[in-house]
Amino acid sequence: MSGILIKNGRVIDPANNIDANLDLHIVEGKIAQVGQNLVTENAETVDADGLLVTPGLIDIHVHLRDPGLEYKEDIVSGTQAAAAGGVTSLACMPNTQPIIDNLAICRYIISKAQEQGFANVFPIGSITKGLQGETLSEMGELKEGGCVGFSDDGLPVVSSELMRRGLEYADTFDAPIISHAEDLSLVGSGVMNEGPVATELGLKGIPWVAEDAMTARDIMLAEFTGGRLHMAHVSTRGSVELVRQAKARGVRVTCEATPHHFTLTDEAVHGYNTNAKMNPPLRSVADRDAVRAGLADGTIDAIATDHAPHHIDEKNVEFAMALNGIVGLETLLPLTLKLVEEAVIDLTQAIALMTCQPARIIGIERGTLGVGSVADIALIDPNLTWKLTPEKLHSKSKNTPFEGWNMKGAAMKTFLTGKVVYSR
Ligand code: DOR
Ligand code: ZN
Repeated sequence: MSGILIKNGRVIDPANNIDANLDLHIVEGKIAQVGQNLVTENAETVDADGLLVTPGLIDIHVHLRDPGLEYKEDIVSGTQAAAAGGVTSLACMPNTQPIIDNLAICRYIISKAQEQGFANVFPIGSITKGLQGETLSEMGELKEGGCVGFSDDGLPVVSSELMRRGLEYADTFDAPIISHAEDLSLVGSGVMNEGPVATELGLKGIPWVAEDAMTARDIMLAEFTGGRLHMAHVSTRGSVELVRQAKARGVRVTCEATPHHFTLTDEAVHGYNTNAKMNPPLRSVADRDAVRAGLADGTIDAIATDHAPHHIDEKNVEFAMALNGIVGLETLLPLTLKLVEEAVIDLTQAIALMTCQPARIIGIERGTLGVGSVADIALIDPNLTWKLTPEKLHSKSKNTPFEGWNMKGAAMKTFLTGKVVYSR
């Protein structure tokens, strides 16, 4: 037995209730042994003294922009950014050009990622053909081809009837419907959160009820159909509470929150900062704190970045004209560890929110370090401090509101199927 022996690290594997100083032995891309003082013959040794050894992180909400918008990001640069952030698996949203609503695009993404990527890529198919909100896409075929869920992310499914059918249809092959919840009539021409900051800046607001109203509808449809619903990027006090109550009633609903929504508020928009513009928008302190409380009490199942790269020319414009979204893959880990530092969640919860819990939502066999599982692993230095500068980002796009921030925590090495895909 040769392979790789990761020694002296603190192994945190929430799926198996493990938090202990252990060695981990990788053979042929799989975890062969986990234990104390492992003795191996001819294994290459990696010293993880002072580091956390965790399952590779899993980000179930990423815009890879490939095919069609490769000037913002592509499968290679996006998965490089992932690896640098400790992320070994990601699910990519279908608002590419063309849309992921057919088998050819689904296959293109999977094969390009396998051939050239630095992370596992799991496509999410669209709920409706062409994201048009008119007819359902061929979900069965897409699931067969490797799609792990369905979403019209970027847009709500306006027709309640179609959302009902989507939930029913997707459930026949046990796939989640991932909802981007906003009532567009309430959003109107809003460009940031409705509130005092918007008033001060003279910008049109998006009220919280735009998210809450659609979240309530989708939960009711999930309750009615029995289908499986996942709420993307919850950002309001009300939507967290709606999910909390629905779970208590036994509705099959899960949800995710982004690092920006649990870290920032709409105050970040001051100065008309277009890198603080995204959808859903940054909200009030009460909303941000409700998202934190939802993470703490388990209402929120996963942390997902909504990594949404845009070219600088799409951000260096008047606030109202700027495109929505920020890059997130390379700040996921330090911003989540900050929650641990601030005692909002504990370290095990933090790792679970980025590994086994998101894995369960999209039904992939990842996010654990159990013997026999694929050796997707992150070696994390939780104490390393570094300053975020755009040049440090591996992503093609640099649209982040965290520029100049001092970050704490970084992936030192990322293993994908037992191979090092990133080393700091
Ligand atoms: O900020 C966002 N960016 N929100 C979305 O819903 C879509 C995304 C994008 O594709 O840029
Ligand atoms: Zn998104």
